[in-house]
Amino acid sequence: MINEQYKKMLEGKSVIRKLSEAATARGKEIGYENVFDYSLGNPSVPVPEKFTEVMIELLKTKNSMELHGYSPSLGIASVKDKIARSLNKRFGMNYTGNHIFPTTGAAGALAHAIRCVTKPGDEVLTFAPYFPEYNFYVNMTGAKLKVVPADTRNFQINFKHFEEMLDEKTAAVLINTPNNPSGAVYNRETLQKLAELLLRKQEEFGHDIFLISDEPYREIIFEGVDAPYVSEFYDNTLSCYSYSKSLSLPGERIGYVAVNPKCRDAQLISAICGQISRGIGHNCPSSIIQLAVSQVLDETSNMSVYEVNRNLLYQELTSLGFTCIKPGGTFYIFPRALEENAEIFCQKALKYDLILVPSDSFGVPGYFRMAYCIDTEKVERSLYALRKFVKENY
Ligand SMILES: Cc1ncc(COP(=O)(O)O)c(C=O)c1O
Repeated sequence: MINEQYKKMLEGKSVIRKLSEAATARGKEIGYENVFDYSLGNPSVPVPEKFTEVMIELLKTKNSMELHGYSPSLGIASVKDKIARSLNKRFGMNYTGNHIFPTTGAAGALAHAIRCVTKPGDEVLTFAPYFPEYNFYVNMTGAKLKVVPADTRNFQINFKHFEEMLDEKTAAVLINTPNNPSGAVYNRETLQKLAELLLRKQEEFGHDIFLISDEPYREIIFEGVDAPYVSEFYDNTLSCYSYSKSLSLPGERIGYVAVNPKCRDAQLISAICGQISRGIGHNCPSSIIQLAVSQVLDETSNMSVYEVNRNLLYQELTSLGFTCIKPGGTFYIFPRALEENAEIFCQKALKYDLILVPSDSFGVPGYFRMAYCIDTEKVERSLYALRKFVKENY
């Protein structure tokens, strides 16, 4: 018999995917260039040239088994060593290759990290606004996701609610900075306060509380913004990284878990992740991609377009009267809708071929997300539609 739980999930298809499908359908009618599709977080810039060169070189020079064979279940040792050295140099950490576990993107990293430090029945706290897939990433392990309400002043952490919700059942706290959907970057004060509170609560409850830090946007930081490295603040941290956004490689499914060398059982965690892989089948990320990214660790795609787009949209939205925090990173902006019901607001925008995502599934009502990983030329054209939409409706 078909599993009822998954069958039921078919009814709850992601709002973002639904809107993206609507945008594609509308594109067939009027030409996709005329649809201002701000729905999906799919990078819009090519991979760095060096990545392509490295891939060609690998294909020409390495033997087939090395490139296309199964990778070792804990990842390719030389790749892990290089990632560790690069993180140490950038963030003053003390990782060795044993603290790095290559995964299929951030989703794969989170699948391992969550299973590693929770058991069914435990609670995992996250902060609104949050990436809606966390519901599935966490709840389908048997642990339970609980969402701390947002601090809508700046989308840093609402410590009052957080402390109220943090209890004996909390096994892990899941954060995402720079944040999808708000573009907020947690500052030092926030991370310091978070670390202090977790240390105090670990002591009080007599058990570890792990911090799982979801960092696919770590490299998309705008000028003048300080983006501290989360693991520096709290020993029991598992950093979940992805090359999906920084190298524009989402289809290649590559990332890693980096285990803070000072965390509980640090030496065992990668090995335990190897065992988790056996159960969930998210194992052995592609060998050729592991080898290729390890040769471009200091590179990113040319992501300057995201900052240009952020500036254009922030400027226009605020001058149209929207309230919104200025994103410090990512390629998302999260303004307050001009009416209470964000779904109705986004529905009205559709008439102007503006595809905006209502905020309800991000855990905060009354806002909307725009993913501005699109060409600047299209952003510029969309501003006219945005103005018209606001003028005619509000
Ligand atoms: C906050 C957040 N976490 C995790 C992921 C999954 O990333 P990946 O493609 O690396 O699996 C995404 C993808 O958009 C994301 O926005």
